[in-house]
Amino acid sequence: MSQKISIVQLIEDLERLEGEAASDITNASDKKSLENLRVQLLGKKGRLSQVLGSMKNLENEERPIIGQRANLLKNSLQELLAERLQVLKSKALEELIASEKIDVTAPSSGKLFGHRHPLITTTEQIVDLFCGLGYEVKEGPEIESDYYNFAALNIPEDHPARDMQDTFYLNNNLLLRTHTSPVQIRCLEKNPPPIRIVAPGRVYRRDAIDATHSPVFHQVEVLAIDEGLDFSHLRGTVLAFLKSFFGDLPVRFRASYFPFTEPSAEVDVQWRGKWLEVMGCGMVDPSVLNGLGIDPERWSGFAAGLGVERFCMVRHGIDDIRRLYTSDLRFLEQF
Ligand code: DAH
Repeated sequence: MSQKISIVQLIEDLERLEGEAASDITNASDKKSLENLRVQLLGKKGRLSQVLGSMKNLENEERPIIGQRANLLKNSLQELLAERLQVLKSKALEELIASEKIDVTAPSSGKLFGHRHPLITTTEQIVDLFCGLGYEVKEGPEIESDYYNFAALNIPEDHPARDMQDTFYLNNNLLLRTHTSPVQIRCLEKNPPPIRIVAPGRVYRRDAIDATHSPVFHQVEVLAIDEGLDFSHLRGTVLAFLKSFFGDLPVRFRASYFPFTEPSAEVDVQWRGKWLEVMGCGMVDPSVLNGLGIDPERWSGFAAGLGVERFCMVRHGIDDIRRLYTSDLRFLEQF
């Protein structure tokens, strides 16, 4: 009687084992606990072995019944374990992929590199073009004397041209230079002709700031003195320069007046359907050469001056000069 109970009990044990094992396997959350479970269930001292161990109490004819069921159970548990292992493996892979995901739209954490300001670039381009024509780069002081800024350029004290170039006056006849033309005088004083120079620099005027004016701006001065230079050399040089810088914009020369050149001209380029003045120029006035002890019968030459801001604005289609000074990165990053 007790043996009969025993086979029933063993069958119940196997069924319970099957139910519990199936849910344990599905709940195993990683490879390690799944492996522990496999040892608990199917290992040498595992639960299935224990059931099989009790078979010795059964009748001979009963044993195959339990043996068969136990084998089936073993196979199905092995299958469940293998399936679960597969699920856990692909879950782990998915998690790894998710954790290593690269968001290509995230803002960069790398360093931002700066670049030259468009005014600097424009100045360099202008200067480079003249260097290509054999001119030498020169610079002069921004704090200038009345003599170099005005008198030596044929602008005596009561000359009306001074009104157009009112500036910031310092003590001792010093002022903030209103143009780069004084560099002409400083260079001619030190280096007798022949001479070809290009002189970039910052200049100052008593001007209110608006879309096209600024009390501080930049110019480039050009001077060539040699034997036999005439207006055709001036015109040819200016045309070659403007063509290199602006491409094929139409150019015209207009008669004008500057105290330090004779004859003088203003040069316009056609931009957005209008003539726009871009530079002043002329043949160096003999009285300027005389003042420096240079014989105007032997030496002649031409000079020109231009505003860098205007060149930069035309080149890049900038409509307001203030954009060049406000250091707004959204603007500057475009260049
Ligand atoms: N210095 C002049 C100005 O600032 C520009 C200029 C005109 C320079 C004629 C020159 C020149 O060298 O020949 O308005």
